[in-house]
Amino acid sequence: MDIGIVVYSQTGHTLSVAAKLQEALSTAGHKVNLERIEVAGPVRLRAVNALLKTRPEIDAYDALVFGSPVQGGTPAPPMMDYLEQIASLQWKTVACLVTGVFPAGWGRNQTIAQMRVVCESKGATVCGSGSVGWLSLGRRRQIAEVVDSLSRLF
Ligand SMILES: Cc1cc2nc3c(=O)[nH]c(=O)nc-3n(C[C@H](O)[C@H](O)[C@H](O)COP(=O)(O)O)c2cc1C
Repeated sequence: MDIGIVVYSQTGHTLSVAAKLQEALSTAGHKVNLERIEVAGPVRLRAVNALLKTRPEIDAYDALVFGSPVQGGTPAPPMMDYLEQIASLQWKTVACLVTGVFPAGWGRNQTIAQMRVVCESKGATVCGSGSVGWLSLGRRRQIAEVVDSLSRLF
């Protein structure tokens, strides 16, 4: 399967999990590209309405993983901006990956739910999701579990 992992990552956490997922999916025999959504100009604490410097093209992929940090209980604005501007996700299988610092109920679950809604509104089949609590003592185990469960979806 051709899989695109499309990530917005402000401080590198989500990107590091995405890189491990890329490795796992590649090992499983998929063709996987890791692409970044980047904002133009200096990174502000909260990149509200930031201009996007890169908007990865998704047409070539059969399946997609969208990765974002939680910001204020929602997906980071560049990710929402990017998702909202995608014309269609019809026939695409999608999974969502999220990182945050608080317990899952304080933003990570809500962020996944919002990403799912916007992806489904574009016609995607959302097949799964995973999140990592960055300050959790069990972070390494969580990362391993999320990478394992997401890599088995495709
Ligand atoms: C402006 C801002 C708001 C944030 N809000 C939340 C939040 O509501 N819930 C949460 O769990 N983490 C929150 N975080 C923490 C980030 O989600 C967390 O550090 C994440 O792992 C960063 O990922 P990144 O390195 O890929 O950008 C916030 C961070 C920033 C900068």
